[in-house]
Amino acid sequence: MLDIIKTIVLGRPKGIRRTILSKLFSESEDTSPNASFSSPMGSSEDVESPSVATNSLEPPKDVTPPEGFEVVLHKDALEEGQIVEVIIAGTAIAVAKANGEIYAFENTCPHAGGPLSEGALDCSEEHVHVRCPYHGWDFDLKNGACLTSPDSDVGCYETHLEGNAICVKI
Ligand code: FES
Repeated sequence: MLDIIKTIVLGRPKGIRRTILSKLFSESEDTSPNASFSSPMGSSEDVESPSVATNSLEPPKDVTPPEGFEVVLHKDALEEGQIVEVIIAGTAIAVAKANGEIYAFENTCPHAGGPLSEGALDCSEEHVHVRCPYHGWDFDLKNGACLTSPDSDVGCYETHLEGNAICVKI
């Protein structure tokens, strides 16, 4: 893409427009894909490929997860205290980062279906809880136990960090 823009603005590598602009602005003849792109108006600001910046936190595609696991997120996609919903094989799963650890659990509250990924995390060194946004039931993310109503636990999923990938065992 950058090469196309460069060709449109500056002309073909051996073309007359490129030659004239090179002489006028002393531009390098480097036309490699990784070459920086200096504006003929004299700005030294490089043009970055937007796909690199916007896709940097996409789930890595070059990671092979352990057997039974699925790559769900880039390891830096979650900030401390954040919960996101991911869909794996048609199942909504909440993935949270708390105290530097990654937790994955069912996203659907067993009480009345509240989305736990929209709930609030409550963390200390001793516990990691999530509070359902609908009616405030609390769940222990270390084992899925419901702290508000017995026999209403949520399922938890094993997580694993492989390279830059957060993986969840389905
Ligand atoms: S739906 Fe979660 S507490 Fe009611």
